[in-house]
Amino acid sequence: MSHPHYSKPRRLLHWIFAAVVLWATISGYASALLQPPPSVKQVLAFINVSLTTLLVPLFALRLLYLVLHPAPAAPAHQSPRERLLVHAGHAALLITLGTALLSGVLMMSRPIDVFGLLIPQPLQNLTAILFFEELHHYSCVALALLVAGHIAAVIIHQLRGHGVLGRMLPKQP
Ligand code: HEM
Ligand code: HEM
Repeated sequence: MSHPHYSKPRRLLHWIFAAVVLWATISGYASALLQPPPSVKQVLAFINVSLTTLLVPLFALRLLYLVLHPAPAAPAHQSPRERLLVHAGHAALLITLGTALLSGVLMMSRPIDVFGLLIPQPLQNLTAILFFEELHHYSCVALALLVAGHIAAVIIHQLRGHGVLGRMLPKQP
């Protein structure tokens, strides 16, 4: 069965985000919960802050392509109600992702080190920094739950024989 595809830039951006978000979530919680040696924690924080900060301009690009390249038509097996649910799920993923990125940047209490390039700490007010730290905590939990639901939904569709994964993969020749 052939699937109408998301455009190439949307597919590329989707998989870059998927890789970084999965890595930052798994390593971020491993670092917070398993308490590795301080040197390991420091390296993980450096890599994660660098990688996720690079997602900020890519997120703006992703929003631009959302408008420029609309999603392909809904698969034939989906009812209008199901499609509405899919859209709501994707919107929730994007809103939570944007919140995790913004809160991450604004909670920084040191300059943001992006692979050696230093961006000045955005906020100085301690109350505001603590607010965004808490927002980062909750938005990361929400994002992890939404991503788990998103992956489960894709697997369920595949198992039912209505694969949607092909819509996010390179076009077959
Ligand atoms: C979607 C992107 C992001 C994801 C999925 C993510 C994920 C996480 C997770 C899972 C944690 C540990 C959770 C906790 O302790 O409550 C964490 C902590 C942290 N995040 Fe993010 N984050 C993202 C973006 C950012 C950004 C853009 C920055 C800053 C520029 C940032 C800076 C930090 C810092 C400084 C910590 C604390 C690290 C530590 O003290 O070990 N994050 N993040
Ligand atoms: C880990 C972080 C992830 C995030 C934040 C995420 C987010 C999104 C978003 C927002 C969309 C809507 C299309 C777009 O605007 O790009 C989407 C579509 C899609 N995602 Fe993900 N995704 C993630 C991981 C994954 C993974 C690991 C898979 C594979 C199991 C996957 C499979 C898909 C598929 C197949 C679609 C197309 C659904 C359709 O419209 O039919 N995603 N994703």
